[in-house]
Amino acid sequence: MSLLEISNLTKSFGGILAVNEVSFSVNNGEIIAVIGPNGAGKTTLFNLMTGIYQPTGGQVLFNGNNIIGMSAHRIAGLGIARTFQNLQIFNNMTVLENVMVGRHTKSKTGLLGAIFPISRVQREEREIVEKAMKKLTLVGLANKAMVGADNLPYGRQKMLEISRAIALEPELLLLDEPAAGLNSTETRKLVKIIYKLRDQGVTIILVEHDMETVMEIADRLVVLNFGNKLAEGTPVEIQNNQEVIAAYLGEEDLVC
Ligand SMILES: Nc1ncnc2c1ncn2[C@@H]1O[C@H](COP(=O)(O)OP(=O)(O)O)[C@@H](O)[C@H]1O
Ligand SMILES: [Mg+2]
Repeated sequence: MSLLEISNLTKSFGGILAVNEVSFSVNNGEIIAVIGPNGAGKTTLFNLMTGIYQPTGGQVLFNGNNIIGMSAHRIAGLGIARTFQNLQIFNNMTVLENVMVGRHTKSKTGLLGAIFPISRVQREEREIVEKAMKKLTLVGLANKAMVGADNLPYGRQKMLEISRAIALEPELLLLDEPAAGLNSTETRKLVKIIYKLRDQGVTIILVEHDMETVMEIADRLVVLNFGNKLAEGTPVEIQNNQEVIAAYLGEEDLVC
């Protein structure tokens, strides 16, 4: 059974078919890239998979369960975490607190902590801090834990967002343009982080425009164009796919 099975997924906004009858599946441990020009429906696809939007039609099976209709919170609890194309960092919190916000949805006591014996709450809080620090270490931000998140440069804020997403200990991690705005050194770091996560058993779907990076790290690619799936295949297959080349890969200025 595939970890994720998307069938005929469709989302229209008024007259616009942002995602049109898209189907593909993702196996455990894969790194999948979703590529396509601006407006192709990539972010909408992520929003449908995370309960932010409800589809007009189609189905998303995660571990065999249809997650359509579930709240974003429930889907996160089932093991799908994400980052956003537009950074969503809490600027008035420290780096550590930003990661702990992610962790708290996993916490058993949560807001009901007040009714549990204080020791249990404290123990859980300490565990949350320890786990958050581990995630910060993974993305190279442990030494910035107490810094205000707004004091981090953009590239590091993007790493912070990844560490918050993985604090949920997801089975599936969705990264929406993780390399956008990163310099080449930061992009290399990002690639290493993605490989580390994969080695830890996390399955990854990334939307990315940096073709060099995508072709290097993706096991398979899904190409979207005007909401439709144009092609699916390995990097070599996609690079040689005439339809994809005609749509945009062959263009000298690959703006997507
Ligand atoms: N909330 C929304 N309301 C109306 N139209 C939307 C909304 N979200 C996305 N769209 C439209 O859906 C299409 C796909 O957008 P999007 O998924 O953001 O593309 P991509 O991430 O591939 O650039 C675009 O035409 C966009 O304008
Ligand atoms: Mg997008």
